[in-house]
Amino acid sequence: MIYRLPEVGDEAALAAYVREHHDNGETSISASLGLSSSDYAEWVEKIRRNASVGDDEWGRSLLYLCLEETGLIGLLSIRFELPASLSEKYGDIGYGVRPSERCRGYATEMLRYALSVCREKGMSKVVLGCYKDNLASAATIRKNGGVLFAENEKYKAGRISQYYSIAL
Ligand SMILES: CC(C)(COP(=O)(O)OP(=O)(O)OC[C@H]1O[C@@H](n2cnc3c(N)ncnc32)[C@H](O)[C@@H]1OP(=O)(O)O)[C@@H](O)C(=O)NCCC(=O)NCCS
Repeated sequence: MIYRLPEVGDEAALAAYVREHHDNGETSISASLGLSSSDYAEWVEKIRRNASVGDDEWGRSLLYLCLEETGLIGLLSIRFELPASLSEKYGDIGYGVRPSERCRGYATEMLRYALSVCREKGMSKVVLGCYKDNLASAATIRKNGGVLFAENEKYKAGRISQYYSIAL
């Protein structure tokens, strides 16, 4: 798998990625940082700025396209400079895999790669948030050494968020 920042030339591939989620009945695109509601060129600029200079509140972060020879498989977000308060609320890592490529081990591989990046950045642990009913994501986290440490009910959506930590 190749991991890289998005470029202006990826617009068609990302549009197809978003469309596939919508066709599958999914309205939110995980780890996309507002892709489907943004002007594409501005979105690319924002992602590249986040990787280089970062943001006062969120620090620097990476949003990688995860590519195989067949094309775009998933998106991976690595927020390696989050202050503890945001890390515990949103998690340091997010990911999504396109519907047609799920259940092939890609998310497990992507999370393993994200952990290696975090380790290189000097982090000693990461936090991941995941809804309790998202069994696929919970399994992905557990397979990468995640240990459940907290959960709380989200009153707005009526769902339970769970938080896992992984020691690096
Ligand atoms: C969660 C998601 C990233 C998993 O991607 P994936 O590439 O299918 O995951 P993997 O193939 O690496 O599978 C990881 C584990 O989840 C399990 N799994 C996959 N789909 C599952 C499902 N629908 N129900 C239960 N377990 C499931 C797999 O069996 C595997 O565990 P195992 O090896 O013990 O059998 C993918 O379903 C997705 O993109 N969902 C929408 C976005 C999302 O939820 N992102 C995470 C936000 S916290």
